[in-house]
Amino acid sequence: MGIIYHEKSKQFHLWNDEISYIIAVLPNDEIGHVYFGKRLKNREEYSYPSDLRYPKAMVCGMHDRESFSLELVGQENPSFGGTDLRDGAFAMQYANGSSVTHAVFQSFEIREGKPKLKGLPAAYTNEDAEAETLVIRCYDELTGLTVLLSYTIFRDYPIICRNVLYRNDSGVEMTLQKALSATLDLTDQEYEWMQFTGAWGREREPITRKLQPGITAIGSNRGSSSPNMNPFVILKRPTCDEMQGEALGFSLVYSGNFLAQAECDSYGQTRFMMGISPMNFAWKLTPGEEFQTPEAVLVYTKQGLNHLSRSLHHFYRNQLSRGIWKTKERPILLNNWEATQMNFTEESILKIAAKGKEAGVELFVLDDGWFGARDDDYRGLGDWVANTQKLPEGMGGLSRKINEMGLQFGFWIEPEMVNEDSDLYRAHPDWVLHVPGRDLSLGRHQLVLDYSKPEVVDCIYDMLTAVIDGANIAYIKWDMNRTITECYSIGRDSTEQGKTYHAYILGVYDLYERLTTRYPEILFESCASGGGRFDAGLLYYAPQAWCSDNTDAYSRLKIQYGTSYGYPLSSMGAHVSAVPNQQTGRSIDLQTRADVACFGTFGYELDLNELSDEEFEKVKEQIVFMKKYRGLLQDGDLYRLQSPFSGDKAAWMVVSGDRRQAILGYYTAEKYANEGRSTVRLAGLDPDLLYHVGSRELYGDELMERGIDPTDPAIGGYETEGDYTSRLFIIEA
Ligand code: DGJ
Repeated sequence: MGIIYHEKSKQFHLWNDEISYIIAVLPNDEIGHVYFGKRLKNREEYSYPSDLRYPKAMVCGMHDRESFSLELVGQENPSFGGTDLRDGAFAMQYANGSSVTHAVFQSFEIREGKPKLKGLPAAYTNEDAEAETLVIRCYDELTGLTVLLSYTIFRDYPIICRNVLYRNDSGVEMTLQKALSATLDLTDQEYEWMQFTGAWGREREPITRKLQPGITAIGSNRGSSSPNMNPFVILKRPTCDEMQGEALGFSLVYSGNFLAQAECDSYGQTRFMMGISPMNFAWKLTPGEEFQTPEAVLVYTKQGLNHLSRSLHHFYRNQLSRGIWKTKERPILLNNWEATQMNFTEESILKIAAKGKEAGVELFVLDDGWFGARDDDYRGLGDWVANTQKLPEGMGGLSRKINEMGLQFGFWIEPEMVNEDSDLYRAHPDWVLHVPGRDLSLGRHQLVLDYSKPEVVDCIYDMLTAVIDGANIAYIKWDMNRTITECYSIGRDSTEQGKTYHAYILGVYDLYERLTTRYPEILFESCASGGGRFDAGLLYYAPQAWCSDNTDAYSRLKIQYGTSYGYPLSSMGAHVSAVPNQQTGRSIDLQTRADVACFGTFGYELDLNELSDEEFEKVKEQIVFMKKYRGLLQDGDLYRLQSPFSGDKAAWMVVSGDRRQAILGYYTAEKYANEGRSTVRLAGLDPDLLYHVGSRELYGDELMERGIDPTDPAIGGYETEGDYTSRLFIIEA
């Protein structure tokens, strides 16, 4: 790994064993992009396609006027307004109303490790030697704008992390109207765009389409990264599949409004960009002030989508999630939400927890309804004091009683929201986002607290720490159940309202930072009506996220499969719930429900007292299985083998780091009469090792090249007994 600056050619080469990233100072002294891909030999000068095809009619030149156009050259941080007529990565409006920038190379710094981003989540190094960081400083003399472009290359991952910082070094105000985190200019258009799309209850379905001339874009303007569009996109070659081929992945380490877009221009070039959504964004910078963009993670592979995903999985587990839980085996939990909703007493909760303990559960989680007047979702949000009618000895008493059973205890919060019917709202009606004189929109009967105000964050922090300090808390589920509308902050100057969306998210990060710092041993799970804020930003604070409110096993198989393109299994909260399922009405066998949930952070979301004796015994077995294999399932290498989105059969597997152990999950959605043969070719094994699968002994090469028949009784296979069935196969050397 290294970063080299070639003085004569003014080119930077960032490289490790897998990738190269090459940057050039262009003839007009702006910063150009030359290459991102498989590792190249280091050399003094790489040519870049700029003036090759120039001049062209209707293309304008600058610098020495007619021989160089920004429209025909790759750039690192382009802005619109000059000779590049593609969309720009940033727009700064200056005092005279112009938004043309010409920020040119001034200096650079190369250092070991990776600096923190102030107030924002970002990847980090455990030791400085793991990465090197390049910061390029550019300056626009006419306007006094300084731009710092940051790049970190990691020794062990095919990954580059990027961010941009803008500083007003002039004597007058200027306003950022757009500030994306990364641009990647590619020299052809032979890509397919993959996005992860859906809505509540059907999050992150992979959708693939070919790039066409013009702009392909996704984003969120919902105030959160959203269940609708995930801030993770892949550009892949049409021939790339799970096992081979070239692809680029882009992930934004951010939980608010975002934009990701690819623009195919008229000259065979593709420009990819990603960052904070410019919608309703405007950030005024007074002299001396700075704006820091969130981080973008760029990943490259020539070995297919599984490899791209695995690179991100290991990267997020080791270099993004923090704290003692990041790589630790996660506790098997029991959550009462689907069992009781808000209708519970301490007695009924203890009964549910006790049965969980008998089954082998390790952590009990009390969900919504424990505080204020929270008997339904019309009231109580914002009043973070235990309701003593339900919990006579408060949270302290309940946590003690749960602990005495031999279980750890955790609870649910939704700290960004308030009901109109709450003491907090009655005391501070100006603390909610709303436009004076306009009706307030409600979502799930609640309003959004204005987290751009530090006093709001402070107040919630004080209430929550009082609850946590008064009890023994091992886990917190942080929920967020509505989108943001009428995003206006009372008391903020009219020229500063464009800051509100982003300042809100900074407030959320601030509270997360303070709570995770004060309580380093607590495991945080993020949630937003399920998977509505499943993004790399929150993984920095909470190493797991409730994947979806849809707990139906077949829906979940799809949701977890889609989520796995960008995020590790250890980040996916996945529970077995009761049937008929509360979201789909489907009744799926208890074993299949567990066979899906075990590819995630496993738990139960039902009252185990309501199971038959036979079912309860099954649950006990499932928990024994999960305790034995969760290390492998949560930390192993994941291989997607057969997609539930493209047929009635699905398969995926995890393989241990030493390749001696693996688990294959095989699922059938629909049973056909007189079915033909099925073959699953495994992956990631050692071709020379002899593995046991059921009573068969097979070499890794046979398993991977010939495959197995999941109906073979000798390996524990099965003839499908109906719809929505599954098997797990243990493969051991
Ligand atoms: C939405 C979450 O996703 C559910 O799991 C549950 O916590 C409810 N909110 C509680 O209101």
